Amino acid sequence: MKTLTMNNGVEIPVLGFGTFRTAQEETEKSVLTAIESGYRLIDTAEAYHNEEYVGNAIAACGVPREELFITTKVTFRAFDDARTSVENSLRYMRLDYLDLVLLHWPFGNYYAAWRTLEKMQEEGKIRAIGVSNFNPDRFIDLIHYNKVTPAINQIETNLYCQRQAEHVWEDKYGITHQSYAPLGQNRANEMFEEPIVKMIAEKYGKTPAQVCLRFMIEEKVVVIPKSTHANRIKENIDVFDFALTETEIAALRTLDKKMNVAGNPENPEKVEIAMSWK
Ligand SMILES: NC(=O)c1ccc[n+]([C@@H]2O[C@H](COP(=O)([O-])OP(=O)(O)OC[C@H]3O[C@@H](n4cnc5c(N)ncnc54)[C@H](OP(=O)(O)O)[C@@H]3O)[C@@H](O)[C@H]2O)c1
Repeated sequence: MKTLTMNNGVEIPVLGFGTFRTAQEETEKSVLTAIESGYRLIDTAEAYHNEEYVGNAIAACGVPREELFITTKVTFRAFDDARTSVENSLRYMRLDYLDLVLLHWPFGNYYAAWRTLEKMQEEGKIRAIGVSNFNPDRFIDLIHYNKVTPAINQIETNLYCQRQAEHVWEDKYGITHQSYAPLGQNRANEMFEEPIVKMIAEKYGKTPAQVCLRFMIEEKVVVIPKSTHANRIKENIDVFDFALTETEIAALRTLDKKMNVAGNPENPEKVEIAMSWK
C-alpha cells in the first residue's frame, strides 16, 4: 500500500476503507473483507454507531495493530467533552491508541475540541489529528489560534466535486487532502458513464470506479471508498497496477462540476441536515 507523509511525519495509506451508513450487522464482515483484501486504513466515526463492529473486525483480522491505520471522528455534539468521545471510541474498538481523529464538522465548540485533541496527541493516545468538512476560512482560523496544524482535511471529493481550490489552500498550509464520497455515494453514478472515463477504463482494462479512484490518488488525494460487497471492496483497491497520463489527468480535471452530493458546510440546507443527525 502506497502512503503519503502528513505534516507531523506520520504516514497515511493513500487508499482506505469507509464505513458510513454500513449497518452494524454488516460492518464486521465488510471491514474484515477489506483488511483481507489489503486495506489498512479504516475510517469510522462516533456518529456512525458502528465502532464496536469495526473493533470486532480489528480483533479478528490477525494483522498486527501497528500495520493498521484507524481513523475516527468526534461528532460536534461532543465537542464540549471531546476527551470522553475519544475514550469511548478507544473502548468501543478496544484499542490503546488511534491513528487519526478528526473533528467531524466545523460546528459548535470546535476550538475546545481541537485543544483537547492536541492534548491527547501529546499524551500519545492519538498519532495525528485533523478536521473534516472545514472550508479554508475555518482551518486558517483554527491554525492561527492553536498549536497544531490539522494533518488532514477530509472533505467530499470526487470526479464531479474535485475541490481544486480547496486543495491549493490545503497545500499552502501543509494539510493532506482526504476525499470522502470518492464515488459520489453512488448517487451521481453518471460519472461512471462519462465518455472520457469509459474510454480510459477500456484502455487500461479497468472499471470506471477504478479510474475515478486512481485519478484522485494521482491528484494526491487520499481516498476511502465504502462498499458492503466483496467484489466491489476488491475492485476499489485494485488501482495500483496502472497510471494515468498527464493528458488523461487534464481531461478528467475538466469534468469537475463543483457539485456536492454529500456535504458542504457553506450550504445551509446541508448544515440543517447535519444538525438533525442523531
Ligand atoms: N467526514 C464526513 O463528513 C464523511 C461523510 C461521508 C462519508 N465519509 C467517509 O467516507 C467514506 C466513503 O464515502 P461514502 O461511503 O459516503 O461514499 P462512496 O464511497 O463514494 O460511495 C459508496 C457507495 O458506492 C457504492 N460502490 C462502492 N464501490 C462501488 C463500485 N466499485 N462500483 C459501483 N458502486 C460502488 C456503494 O455501494 P455498496 O455498499 O452497495 O457496494 C455505496 O452505495 C464513508 O464510508 C465514510 O467513512 C465521511
